[in-house]
Amino acid sequence: MSNYERMAERYAVGDVPWDDNSPPPEVMNLAAGLLPGRALDLGCGYGRSSIYLAQHDWRVDGVDFVPQAVAEAQTRAQLAGVLANIQFHRASVANLDFLTGLYDLALDVGCMHALDEAELHAYAAGVRRLLRPGAAYLLFARLRQPDDDFANGPRGLPEESIRRLFASGFVLERVEHGETTVEDHPVWASAWFYFRRQSG
Ligand SMILES: C[S@@+](CC[C@H](N)C(=O)[O-])C[C@H]1O[C@@H](n2cnc3c(N)ncnc32)[C@H](O)[C@@H]1O
Repeated sequence: MSNYERMAERYAVGDVPWDDNSPPPEVMNLAAGLLPGRALDLGCGYGRSSIYLAQHDWRVDGVDFVPQAVAEAQTRAQLAGVLANIQFHRASVANLDFLTGLYDLALDVGCMHALDEAELHAYAAGVRRLLRPGAAYLLFARLRQPDDDFANGPRGLPEESIRRLFASGFVLERVEHGETTVEDHPVWASAWFYFRRQSG
C-alpha cells in the first residue's frame, strides 16, 4: 500500500488520532514570537495549524494530498471565519512547484517522515525555494530507531538524515527530543526541529 493509499484509507475510516482543535503547543509558542506574515502548512490535515495561524493574522497556504482532509480543512476554516486568509491545496508536498514564495514560516507536523528518498529531496528543495532568508521552519518527525517496526505508523527517518537534508541553506537552531504515543500503538522516538532559512 502506498503512503497515499494508507493516508486516504485512514481519513476514510476516521483513523486520524492527531485531530484536535488546537495545533501542538510548539506551533503556538513559535508563532507567538513571530510577526505575522505568510505561512506554509505542509501536510496540513484538517488544518488545525493553518486555522490557528489565520486567526492570528497570518496568510496561510495549507497543502495535503488527501482530498477528504482538504475538504474538511476548508469547512473548518469557513466555520472559524478565516477561510479568506487560507488557501488549501490538494497536492503532494513533494511537488510544490505550483507555489510561489516567499514565505516567512513553514510548518510540518508529522508529514515528511513518511516520504521516500526521492520525495524527501524534492520536498527539501521546495521548502528551500519557498522560504525567505531568516524564515522559520518547524518540523515534527518520527525518528527511526534500529529496531523499529513500521507496521503501525510512519516509517520515520534517522535524525542524521534530517540534519543532512537541510544542511545546505538552513541552520538548525534547536532540537527537542521526545516520545510519541498514538493511541495504543507502541511509543516512538520523535523530535521537533527548529530550522532557520539562511541565504543561499
Ligand atoms: C500525521 S498527519 C498530521 C496532519 C496535520 N499536520 C496536523 O498536525 O493535524 C500527516 C498529514 O500529512 C499528509 N501527507 C502525508 N504525505 C503527504 C504528501 N506526500 N503530500 C501531502 N500531504 C501528505 C497526510 O495526508 C496527513 O494529513
